[in-house]
Formats: sequence, structure tokens, C-alpha cells
Amino acid sequence: MLRLNVKTQNKYDVYIGCDFDGLKIDLLGKKALIVTDTNVAPLYLQKVQGLFFGCFVSTKIIGAGESFKNFQTYTDILKSLCDLNFTKNDAIVALGGGVVGDICGFVASTYMRGICYYQMPTTLLSMVDSSVGGKTAIDFCGVKNLVGTFYQPTAVYINVSFLKTLDKLQLSSGIGEVVKYAFLMGNDISNLTLDNIDENLIYSLVNYKRQIVECDEHDNGLRHLLNLGHTIGHAYEAILNLPHGVCVLKGIDHVIDISQKFYGLSDLTVSKMKNLVNSFGILNQFNHHFLKASKTDLFDKIKVDKKAQGDKIDMVLLCDIGNAKIEKITLKSLGELL
Ligand SMILES: NC(=O)c1ccc[n+]([C@@H]2O[C@H](COP(=O)([O-])OP(=O)(O)OC[C@H]3O[C@@H](n4cnc5c(N)ncnc54)[C@H](O)[C@@H]3O)[C@@H](O)[C@H]2O)c1
Repeated sequence: MLRLNVKTQNKYDVYIGCDFDGLKIDLLGKKALIVTDTNVAPLYLQKVQGLFFGCFVSTKIIGAGESFKNFQTYTDILKSLCDLNFTKNDAIVALGGGVVGDICGFVASTYMRGICYYQMPTTLLSMVDSSVGGKTAIDFCGVKNLVGTFYQPTAVYINVSFLKTLDKLQLSSGIGEVVKYAFLMGNDISNLTLDNIDENLIYSLVNYKRQIVECDEHDNGLRHLLNLGHTIGHAYEAILNLPHGVCVLKGIDHVIDISQKFYGLSDLTVSKMKNLVNSFGILNQFNHHFLKASKTDLFDKIKVDKKAQGDKIDMVLLCDIGNAKIEKITLKSLGELL
């Protein structure tokens, strides 16, 4: 298994492998609650339960998908912890995609002012992005991730073979985040296909995120780079209810156009970027959906984005592949550039 150590205030390891053979997680004398969703439970819950020893393991199955990343699910999990008499010594295990990971992290950070939690991501998106870095959240009042905390996991265990059961739509969503990293890091993903994602790819992207998170754990500056494509992406997500990473990819497509106007990029640079953003054919596949969101709809959502401060918003723009910059621009000019 590959291993990375994330040196945030609370340090932790990320283990990345293509199976969990031989893995034993020792939680001697503790209780553990494995939280997973209705799709992941029949596939992996039993297998994962067997990894823990020396502890009393319970399970909790929540609804699958973004619509369950809400206050009700949050309180349901808290209630389970209370019913099971969990104390500060005990631990939560998030087995699932970004939805399970974000909500479990939020529960873990607030129950008794903080208990341990382990991330076991099962989607590509959660392996390369959401399971590392300690952003926890639930959606509230129709706003994505409105309520949340920064709370680093105790450890992250990534088993790339879990991707074998992921459908193409969710793989494409993860690819959206992989392409985001390619824009930020400038790494070559031209040989990447939906079938050859391996632990080395996951390692390199998590390692990049690790460096950013270590410099800016609480998202005060540099970490904003990881929001590339997210401001417009979240607007699409809210309007069209498409998977997160697919919307991020569409957000990056807009960012390329905005960057061209903002920096006066050459046609050659823009065409290189467009090739990258279109490299998996995902945008084409969803184009008929994207057309349903008007500029007015998008702008209305962008105005209420958490990243907006007064009449300004931090936008991550692109000077080139591998060269992103954070620019503070007014909402009015963003509306004009859209
Ligand atoms: N915390 C962060 O830093 C961060 C970063 C990026 C995204 N996010 C959040 O992550 C969420 C999206 O995560 P996601 O894309 O993983 O979505 P998800 O958790 O909804 O999972 C997508 C779907 O795949 C199913 N699934 C999961 N693993 C599976 C597997 N191995 N086999 C078969 N089916 C499987 C799930 O049941 C679900 O239906 C969003 O809420 C987003 O805001 C958080």
C-alpha cells in the first residue's frame, strides 16, 4: 500500500492500495459506527466490517445521493451515536462517496466537540478529493455545503478496486475532478481512460492536494485554487442536479472563456485548454442538459455562493495549463464575463 502523511495541525496518514488484503485496523476497546449508504452497503459493508478488530462495530445506512446530505441525516447519525452511548474515545467510519464522507466528518466534528473519524472513500471523486483535507459539510436551505467545519480525519483508507462497481456517470463525475487537477498541476493525463485509473494516479493527486492543504488548512488563500470551476459548477449543480464533478468540468469550461477575456489568452493556449476539458467527451454528453441553464439562472446562483464577499468573489482563473491564479473580481464583471 502507498502511504502519504498529511501534516495538518492533526497529522494523519492516507493509505492507497488496490485491495484491503491483510489490512487490520486496531480500535482496541473502542466502539465504531460504520456509516454507509444504501448503494454501498450491499457491496462493501460486510467486507469493511471485517477489517476492524478489538472493537464493537455497529452500522448505519443512510440514503444515497446529495439529497441526503442534509440536517435530517445529520441528526439521525447523531441519534445513533447517542443510542449507542458513544463517548469521545469512539470512532465513526465513513464508507462511501463524498456525501457520506462530508456528513460523517461533520457529525464527528460536532459530537461531543469532536470524535475520531476514518474515511473510506468509494467513488473516484471522494478518493482524489473529498476524503482528504478535512472539509466537512451538509447542505442547508437549498445551499450546498452551507453548514460545515474543518476537521481532519484520523486516517484515510483508499481501495481503488471499489471503483469497479461505480457506474459510468459517477466515474465521469470523478474524472471532472481529475481534469481539474490536471489544469492545476499541469500533469499529463493523455493516456488516462475510465478503465486504467490506478493507485499511482490517486497517489499523485492526493499528494498535490496534501501540499496545498498543508500550506492553507483553513482555506484562507492558496487552497482556493482547488475551487477551480466550482463557483459556476455549483450553480449548474443547483439548477440541473447533475453530478458534482460533471458540473465542475462545465465550470472549468466557462473559466477558460472568462480567462481568455480577462487575460487576453492566445487562441493556441485556449485551444490546448479546450482539448483538455473536452478530453473525455463528458461535456458533449451532457450538453443538452447544460443548455437548460440560462445565464440569468447561473448568475442568480453565483450571487449567493459562499465564496462571495459583498460585491466581490474570488475566482480561480487560468493563465495556462498548470498556471492558475486567484483573482478577486466584482460580481458585476463576472456577470458580464459569463
Ligand atoms: N469535502 C470536500 O473537500 C469535497 C470535495 C469535493 C466534493 N465534495 C462533496 O462530495 C459530494 C459528491 O461526492 P460523490 O461524487 O462521491 O457522490 P456520492 O457520495 O453521492 O456518491 C455517488 C453515488 O455513487 C454511489 N456509490 C458510491 N460508491 C460506490 C461504489 N464503489 N460502487 C457503486 N456505487 C457507489 C453512491 O451510493 C451514490 O449514489 C458532494 O456533496 C460534494 O459537495 C466534498
